[in-house]
Amino acid sequence: MKTLIDEETIKKRVTEIAKLISAEFNGQPITVVAVLTGALIFVSDLVRLLNLPVRICFVRASSYRGETTVPGDLNIDSSMLPDIQGRNILLVDDILDSGHTLSKLTSYLKEKGCKNIRTAVLLRKIGRQEHPIEPDYCGFEIPDKFVVGYGLDYNDEYRNLPFIGDLS
Ligand code: IMP
Ligand code: MG
Repeated sequence: MKTLIDEETIKKRVTEIAKLISAEFNGQPITVVAVLTGALIFVSDLVRLLNLPVRICFVRASSYRGETTVPGDLNIDSSMLPDIQGRNILLVDDILDSGHTLSKLTSYLKEKGCKNIRTAVLLRKIGRQEHPIEPDYCGFEIPDKFVVGYGLDYNDEYRNLPFIGDLS
């Protein structure tokens, strides 16, 4: 498999992003909401570099793309989410593709009464976005390829690769 982004490059960039987030929140406590399962590796590296009081929780989001459902519907499983009223939220996902997941989850968390919300993604695919959402923190912009590793999967495989590989 072709390596698109190597381990060392990811590490450097995650460190930079953690510094920016720590500077923005400046000691205020944050609640990190990670999108399962893809954000697993990114979030665990990121939170260990944050110089802030951090809570971590998870949400699961899955797109329905079957025949019987409206394309683009997003199923949100928030059973692992605590009460986020009045909290500073950092929503973390592996990749922004169409932007559907991030934009739906952002609205959802706002409805739940969080104080403010920032978004962080490791990757952003160029030329695929359908929803007008700008991530506040983005690791890397990548071309329209199917990528795996560092949390990203194909049929639940490859998540454990320490680099981002191009599977297409
Ligand atoms: P969006 O809602 O279209 O932005 O899609 C985001 C979700 O699609 C991500 O959380 C990933 O789970 C998945 N995804 C999009 N592109 C890729 C890819 O290249 N490899 C693996 N998963 C991907
Ligand atoms: Mg995902």
